[in-house]
Amino acid sequence: MKTTTLLSTAFAALTSATAIPVSGTDFSNGKISLQLSIDLNQDVGALGANVADIFHFTSTHVVHAIPENVVNGTEPTGGLAGASGIFAFGINSHANMICYNITLHNFQGEFESPATTATHIHEAVVGASGPPRIAFPNPHPVGGVDALRQSIGCLQGPFLTGVMVEGKDSGEGFHVSSLETNPTAFMADCHSSLALPGAVRGQLA
Ligand SMILES: *[C@@H]1O[C@H](CO)[C@@H](O)[C@H](O)[C@H]1NC(C)=O
Ligand SMILES: *[C@@H]1O[C@H](CO)[C@@H](O)[C@H](O)[C@H]1NC(C)=O
Repeated sequence: MKTTTLLSTAFAALTSATAIPVSGTDFSNGKISLQLSIDLNQDVGALGANVADIFHFTSTHVVHAIPENVVNGTEPTGGLAGASGIFAFGINSHANMICYNITLHNFQGEFESPATTATHIHEAVVGASGPPRIAFPNPHPVGGVDALRQSIGCLQGPFLTGVMVEGKDSGEGFHVSSLETNPTAFMADCHSSLALPGAVRGQLA
């Protein structure tokens, strides 16, 4: 959040200027290396949004995922006992982009799913199953500790899940604005070889 605010402020300060190449480097502590060349009066076509917009979230969501919420169809499965997850999302609906910070506690087994990854947002109301719309990179052990796993980054549409529904990838045509207009219709989960219908799950709202 701090980073977002700082960057927003930095870009806001630049909006009065025209094309400004900005370069700031600090190799002294090996931590920051930043080089930007921006024309703030021009749209970035592929993104469909002004560059300054990219560093702004139109909404944020925190999902607490637990095994007790997992269903297969409408049948509760119990998920993966003892596991839990926190799925934090920052959405930029102008850029069809979603940033994620996914933390899993006590995940066990292998990540397993017919999709390209086993960590998803599905279109599914509480107590029901539904197709994945976004597949996130699976969380990986933090500091070599399997009981704590994390996955952090951003994805931008078009989205692909690898799951075909009626001849079409279930992520095709998905726009993150749906998550904002109808959050109760979506849930986040991850799947384990020990709990195929889902290890942990939580609704966006
Ligand atoms: C990611 O989420 C975890 C758990 O909520 C938190 O401890 C961590 O600080 C977050 N990291 C970032 C970069 O936001
Ligand atoms: C979900 O339930 C159906 C029956 O309703 C069953 O055929 C299927 O194997 C179950 N899926 C998993 C992953 O357990």
